[in-house]
Amino acid sequence: MRTAAEAGAWGLRERPKRGRLDRVAPIAERPTADTTEGKDAAVSVELTPSAAPRPRAVGETPLPGTEDAGVGGIGPTGRPLPDFPNPPPLTGHGPARVIAMCNQKGGVGKTTTTINLGAALAELGRRVLLVDFDPQGALSVGLGVRSNDLDVTIYTLLVERGHDVREVIQQTRTPDLDLIPANIDLSAAEVQLVGEVAREQILARVLRPVLDDYDVVLIDCQPSLGLLTVNALTAAHGVIIPLECEFFAMRGVALLVETIEKITDRLNPRLQVDGILATMYDGRTLHSREVVKSVVDHFGDQVFHTVISRTVKFPDATLAAEPITSYASAHGAAAAYRQLARELIARGGAA
Ligand SMILES: Nc1ncnc2c1ncn2[C@@H]1O[C@H](COP(=O)(O)OP(=O)(O)OP(=O)(O)O)[C@@H](O)[C@H]1O
Ligand SMILES: [Mg+2]
Repeated sequence: MRTAAEAGAWGLRERPKRGRLDRVAPIAERPTADTTEGKDAAVSVELTPSAAPRPRAVGETPLPGTEDAGVGGIGPTGRPLPDFPNPPPLTGHGPARVIAMCNQKGGVGKTTTTINLGAALAELGRRVLLVDFDPQGALSVGLGVRSNDLDVTIYTLLVERGHDVREVIQQTRTPDLDLIPANIDLSAAEVQLVGEVAREQILARVLRPVLDDYDVVLIDCQPSLGLLTVNALTAAHGVIIPLECEFFAMRGVALLVETIEKITDRLNPRLQVDGILATMYDGRTLHSREVVKSVVDHFGDQVFHTVISRTVKFPDATLAAEPITSYASAHGAAAAYRQLARELIARGGAA
């Protein structure tokens, strides 16, 4: 039993009151409620671990934090690690499931996860659209797009009517991975949109014409819970919350959960938490392991089994303007995002 002082030390004083999200079943257990929403209908799969650990194949890169586990052994989140098989190829494309990458805390791995989860899903034959929704434009830069030189960006689509979203979409060097870029212009949008009719639904309207062209849309949110993030959550079917494995990981999460609940109540009833992702994990430190344990104690099966280790390969890949899956394809960090993509699909969070 954690003492009050310990709980406070982990930032757990902000534990959300037992609201709806506490009771939300992990995606795999949910009934396929809304069959009219295409990709919304969760594919129900068994995530039970296999009885005995599967020995790792020769040459297979151990995932960071799972070196001792093997599939079916205890994974880095302290739970038995299920096997996430390669999903079958899709027979057709669209309509897309839209996922917002969201945490108002800065530097937790939102942009890194958007790029690399997107690239890993594209490797699996999914058509992926990434939306840079942060005026810093880190997602665009991380994919080699010089967004400061662009005349039309997501900002243009939000504030000016009459533009076709396809004019703004850029292909990246990764096949099946497209991008709607952003630059610093977007910082003005929040103020400009305040007086608009249905100001929370503008991004949903912008994306609607291309949803049938993609299987997954990932929106990289800025570190705030302002109107842009509310737009992202209103356009989304699901939200992924990256949490950095550090002392105050849970700080602010209660407020984020509360915001998601309000949006579910008032604007977007289909919105669900697709998963909480532990990032910048260092399995050698007790500290990292304790943070992950406290996150699992708090959120249970909403936490992805996959964790993302801390490695300099990520900043290196950003400098090279490439996803980790091509920059360091054989590295464990690339394997981790590939596993995350398979886990997301297995949970029904993507087609
Ligand atoms: N697993 C990791 N290991 C090491 N460095 C990482 C990892 N993930 C991200 N980083 C680095 O940490 C920094 C912050 O990551 P990132 O930009 O993805 O976070 P963010 O949540 O999008 O930040 P912001 O809130 O500012 O948008 C970047 O320099 C990135 O290269
Ligand atoms: Mg970012």
